[in-house]
Amino acid sequence: MLIAGNWKMNTDLPSARALAAGVRESAADAEGVEVLVCPPFVLLDGVYQILQGSNVKVGGQTLHPEDEGAFTGEVSAQMLRSVGCSHVIVGHSERRALFGETDEDVHARVRQALDNDLVPVLCVGETLDQRRGGTQQKVVAEQLEKALEGAELASGSDIVVAYEPVWAIGTGETATPEQAQSMHAFARKWLKDRFTDELAADICILYGGSMKPHNAEELLSQDDVDGGLIGGASLKASDFGAIIEHAVHLAG
Ligand code: PGA
Repeated sequence: MLIAGNWKMNTDLPSARALAAGVRESAADAEGVEVLVCPPFVLLDGVYQILQGSNVKVGGQTLHPEDEGAFTGEVSAQMLRSVGCSHVIVGHSERRALFGETDEDVHARVRQALDNDLVPVLCVGETLDQRRGGTQQKVVAEQLEKALEGAELASGSDIVVAYEPVWAIGTGETATPEQAQSMHAFARKWLKDRFTDELAADICILYGGSMKPHNAEELLSQDDVDGGLIGGASLKASDFGAIIEHAVHLAG
């Protein structure tokens, strides 16, 4: 089970450090649950200093596909590694919708993360129109196909997949546990066909989209839901801690 917080463009250095301290405390005896936080780039180092030596991991929210160079405003895999990151979110729907990231861009970023020993948290998910049109499986299959083209994984822990229906992100609307399970099972099957049964069984498939303390248990208890990618509720240590607690309970 993996509980990951995506802080997006929220907090500043003092509040990020305070939030990190709260998460560190919540995760202190989170037996059987991995905890990850993804703060904004400039706060990574400050947050890592608080979390170093704890069982909370740190990740970036995106990365540039090149190693280095004249890419004003961008951040490389090596930079993320140098400030303690083990993971990086790739292809979040906000990156796709607001910053024009295409499936090709997502593919290049996944490859760059894997090449640099960063675990990509690959986000996939359909829009409301696509769900209304009944094409959610087709959309997710295409996103996985393009993002993972040519990828070779040594183990299931090399990558994390996050199923995030776009219509549930930041809206307070959550997929029902049945909807989540059905899409997760579909993604698992896709991963089995693409890699091996064993590897696919080991890949963490997270649910993301308005996961909160009150609905976390139901979502996390679904067979193919291996954790959550949490936006809004990761910004309050007590809410994030409550979700971690549900995960610990289910993992135990
Ligand atoms: P949310 O965000 O929990 O605020 O819906 C999830 C995400 O965007 O990863």
